[in-house]
Amino acid sequence: MKRLRACRQAPSVGRVLAEVTIRPQTELDVESVIDILEIVGAEGRWLGLEVPFDRRARAEAILRDLRQPTTFAGFVAEDVGRVVGSIDIRIAPYGVGSVAMAILDGYRSQGIGTRLVERGTEWAKQAGAHKLALEVWPHNDRAIGLYKKLGFVEEGRLHRHYRRRSGELWDAVVMGLLFDAGA
Ligand SMILES: CC(C)(COP(=O)(O)OP(=O)(O)OC[C@H]1O[C@@H](n2cnc3c(N)ncnc32)[C@H](O)[C@@H]1OP(=O)(O)O)[C@@H](O)C(=O)NCCC(=O)NCCS
Repeated sequence: MKRLRACRQAPSVGRVLAEVTIRPQTELDVESVIDILEIVGAEGRWLGLEVPFDRRARAEAILRDLRQPTTFAGFVAEDVGRVVGSIDIRIAPYGVGSVAMAILDGYRSQGIGTRLVERGTEWAKQAGAHKLALEVWPHNDRAIGLYKKLGFVEEGRLHRHYRRRSGELWDAVVMGLLFDAGA
C-alpha cells in the first residue's frame, strides 16, 4: 500500500472541505504526520516542537505508540488522499489523556480541528480515560478558542516555563476536560 504524503499546498479557493475525512492513523501515515509536524513546527509559533528535529527518532516513537492501541490513538484528516492534519492522544496510567494536534495552514478554521478533537475525545472516553489535558501557548487564540468551545477549561498557567531554542522563556496555559465533572 502506498503511504500518503502531507500536503504542502493550501486547498484551492472555494473547495468544499466537507470532503475532508477523519480516520484512524496507521503506520502508513507516520511519515505524513511527521511532515505535518515539520511544516507546522517551522512556523515557530504554535507547537512545543521546534525544527529541526530527529525524524527517525520521532517515527520510531510514533510506531511504538501505535502498537499500544489501548493507551494511544492517532487520527488524521485526509483531503482527497492527502493527510492535512492529525491529533494524537496518549492515556497515562492515572487516566489522563494528553492531546497534541496540528493542521496545515490553509486547512485551519474550517472545522477540521473540531472534528479531530471530537473524534479523539470519543476514543479517549471509550478507552477509559476520565480526563483530557493539554498545554497551549497563551498567544494561540485559535487553539484556546477551539478547546474552550469543546468544553476544556483553563486550569492554570506555567510561567516562563519552556525555554525555546531562541533562549526565550514562554508561558503555557494548562487546559483540561473532565468527562465526569462530579467525580
Ligand atoms: C489550533 C488548530 C488545531 C484548530 O483547528 P482548526 O481546524 O483551525 O479549528 P476549527 O475550525 O475546528 O475551530 C476553530 C474554533 O476555534 C475558535 N476560534 C477560531 N479562530 C479563533 C480566534 N482567532 N480566536 C478565538 N477563537 C477562535 C472558534 O471557536 C472556532 O470554532 P467555530 O468556528 O465553530 O466558532 C489549528 O488551527 C492548528 O493546527 N493550528 C496550528 C497548530 C496548533 O496550534 N496546534 C495546537 C497546539 S496546542
